[in-house]
Formats: sequence, structure tokens, C-alpha cells
Amino acid sequence: MKIDLKKDYHAHILPGCDHGSDSVRTSLGQLELAKSAGIETICATPHFYPNNESVKSFLERRARTFEELREAAADDDPVVLLGAEVLICDGMERLTDLTKLCLEGTNELLLEMPFYEWPSNIWDTVFELNDIDELQIVIAHADRYPVKDIEILIKEGIPLQLNAVSLMNVFKRGKYLSWIDGGYVSYLGSDIHGLGEEYRYFEKCAHLLERRYGKRENA
Ligand SMILES: [Fe+2]
Repeated sequence: MKIDLKKDYHAHILPGCDHGSDSVRTSLGQLELAKSAGIETICATPHFYPNNESVKSFLERRARTFEELREAAADDDPVVLLGAEVLICDGMERLTDLTKLCLEGTNELLLEMPFYEWPSNIWDTVFELNDIDELQIVIAHADRYPVKDIEILIKEGIPLQLNAVSLMNVFKRGKYLSWIDGGYVSYLGSDIHGLGEEYRYFEKCAHLLERRYGKRENA
């Protein structure tokens, strides 16, 4: 298994950057919960909606809110990397600044698909994005979409991120584990918003995967 169980690849923890955290105090609470769950790295992935905002304004807000968190965080808090959860939109492959939305230090773009049936132009866009050499799209919370659609993306070689909570569902767990077994899932995310139960699920999920594949150190 290639998943790093000490890394949360999808989290909404920057204070006031999106609806994930309303204050520095909440964000510090989120870091504390992550630390208790054994997480060493958190990818901060605030929502980016290309139809509502420019990349420039998003990046400015992300930098400002990250700075607020960085000043308040303790030295032993998890390392925070900057990324984005980017909602797909028609023609998005033509957006010139896409690489600026990739996870810090990588060419990976965390892509959110719509929660309604994907129309043909959205399918076209996801395949166009997959063809851009400078980018590697990663499908955010693949567990939240119809299995038949995700399995088409798997055939195209597009890597997936699963929310940890998905493995708590005993009816669907088998399918997600088969994706992990197949090497199609590259990352696990909490997708934490506020001070919910997400990191409790993350820890449970990490233990479940450790029992199946071996200790986190070996992940
Ligand atoms: Fe999210």
C-alpha cells in the first residue's frame, strides 16, 4: 500500500479562508486533533471555485490566513502544506494559473467533481485536465461519487483521494479496500471542517489499514 497514513491530504484548516475554520482558535483545535490522531503533515486545501474568484485573490487569502495560523501554531504541531480543493468547471483546462493551485512542492491538483450527474462537458474537461503534462489531477473524496464514474477514471489512470470516514461504512468498505489493494488510492484525507469527528475516523481508518497492510512506519 502506498498511502502515507501520517499525512492528511485534504483538510479545511486555514482560519477564515473558507467555511472550514472560523478562527485561529478553531484551526489550532484542528491541529491538536490531527496531532492526537498521529498525523504529521496536513495539506491545507481550502475550496477554490473558479467561477467565483480569481486565482490571484484566492492565493492572497490563502497566504494571509496561513500566516495567521503559522504565527499561532506550536513547533510540534503537524507541518502544514498549502494546496487547494478545486471545483471542476467547463473549460477549466484553459485556465493559465492552474499549476499555482497544485499542492506545494508537487504537480498535484486536488479536483472536486460535481455532486450531480456529470454532464458530457465535465467528462471532457476531466480528460483534458488529465492530458496536461505539467499537472497530475487527484480526485478529491472519490468515495462521494458513483462507483461506476470513479471506475472510469481509474481506467484512465487518475489517482484518487478517499475521505477516511468512507472506510467506516461497513457496506461500502469492501469496494474502497479493493481500490486501495489495486493501488488506485494515493491519499487519505480527513476533509475536516470545524471541530468534528473527522480525525477520530482518520485514526480508526489508519488502524484498519495498518492491520491489513502493516504498520504506518512501513506505509
Ligand atoms: Fe473538502
